[in-house]
Amino acid sequence: MKPIHTLASAVLIASLTATPVLAAGGEVYTADVDFSFQGPFGAYDRAALQRGLQVYQGICAGCHGMKFVAFRTLTSDTGPGLTEDQVNAFIAEAGYEIEDEDGEFAPAKTYDYFPEVKSAGAPDMSLLAKARPGGAAHIYSILTGYTGEEKEVAGTILYGNKAYPGGWINMAPPLYGDDVEYMDGTEATLERSSKDVSEFLMWAAEPKMVERKQAGVRNMAFLILFAVLLYFSNKKLWKRVKHPK
Ligand code: HEC
Repeated sequence: MKPIHTLASAVLIASLTATPVLAAGGEVYTADVDFSFQGPFGAYDRAALQRGLQVYQGICAGCHGMKFVAFRTLTSDTGPGLTEDQVNAFIAEAGYEIEDEDGEFAPAKTYDYFPEVKSAGAPDMSLLAKARPGGAAHIYSILTGYTGEEKEVAGTILYGNKAYPGGWINMAPPLYGDDVEYMDGTEATLERSSKDVSEFLMWAAEPKMVERKQAGVRNMAFLILFAVLLYFSNKKLWKRVKHPK
């Protein structure tokens, strides 16, 4: 191989292998599921994020807070892409209110954050997708990984789940299939809703992922161009030394 080829392929291989390995689940089961945001050119699927928001709000938000995510980020172009009006309608419909200094409650504003939920003993979802190996695939696997078995341990019911470390989780299956009626008319199934909410939670944990990838691709293109220029200027520089007339 010519040096330029070697260099270019080295750069390319480095760029392809530098993307996070999503399915590194360790010993626990991780479902084989493809997300649109995987790979160096991957991006979030806006429709999936909007459906995922619906699942989160309708099912998960009662137990899992999302205190680091501001409502206004729902307008993100590479995210759910809601309009300002849609965000306000969402806040009103969900009934999110903020208490002021006088103890009065008023509807939350778009710059406010999703609430924190402490009562249920469930982890906050702002960063969950990033805090677990497997990310969105781990969440999807838990939602679809229930075995149907139950057991009682010290007064607590545990549910068999092949994707949860230890095999038992203290969360009743939150999704069955037709738990939400999708606004976009998509038929809700267990797999569909699980995938949508997992993608949504990945976005919540890493809202700038697409921007980061785009910057990465731009840098890579620049590096390749730079390598080509370097090669030719090097060649030109040494031409008279190597091939004297
Ligand atoms: C009734 C309350 C409740 C609801 C509703 C609920 N969860 Fe949970 N969830 C919990 C609790 C409690 C735990 C902690 C389980 C444990 O520690 O064994 C948990 C744990 C989890 C975990 C595992 C986190 C980890 O540590 O890896 C995931 C993933 C998860 N929930 C996703 C969801 C999703 C997605 C929804 C909505 C579709 C949802 N949950 C709805 C109570 C709930």
